[in-house]
Amino acid sequence: MEKVGIFYGSSTGNTESVANEIQKILGDDIAQLIEVSDANASDLEKFSNLILGSSTWGIGEMQDDFDVFLPQIEDANLEGKKVAIFGCGDQDTYADSFVDAIGIIYETIENKNCDLIGKISTDGYNFDISKAEKDNQLVGLAIDEENQSDLTNERIKNWVDQLKQEFN
Ligand SMILES: Cc1cc2nc3c(=O)[nH]c(=O)nc-3n(C[C@H](O)[C@H](O)[C@H](O)COP(=O)(O)O)c2cc1C
Repeated sequence: MEKVGIFYGSSTGNTESVANEIQKILGDDIAQLIEVSDANASDLEKFSNLILGSSTWGIGEMQDDFDVFLPQIEDANLEGKKVAIFGCGDQDTYADSFVDAIGIIYETIENKNCDLIGKISTDGYNFDISKAEKDNQLVGLAIDEENQSDLTNERIKNWVDQLKQEFN
């Protein structure tokens, strides 16, 4: 598999833990972890496979570092790259903006001639509205450490198995 860049923003460590676990499963010879506060458009362009992760804050807002990073994604040439998205959120307290950051990243990349991979079913989640939901699917992996932490490891493992197929 081509090298994978995992770019993430995390305020209290949850998205960072998920990013670490994804890297562990893919292997650190394949996957490199990059905090978005240290990265720019040319860092994105070094990888043909990208995984982008942000938690959601405020009401449906990007994590602070990822918010600053979004213009770098807009500036980057992502043509032909495969891109997967993940994020952490709380579907109980924020049922009307659950993992919106995943949807905002999606909207940023959707017209950039890259291939979105890693969509998943909404089964097992319980929220009302999410920008991450398009055509009855989530456009990336949603992790909820507040309400469903018991499902986190299995969700990550299944998603990375899916990515291993879809990255090739
Ligand atoms: C003030 C506040 C606002 C939040 N807003 C949202 C939200 O709009 N949607 C959502 O899904 N989660 C929301 N969350 C939950 C966080 O996204 C969740 O705790 C996440 O795991 C944090 O990840 P991080 O530690 O990587 O930043 C909010 C949490 C707090 C404390």
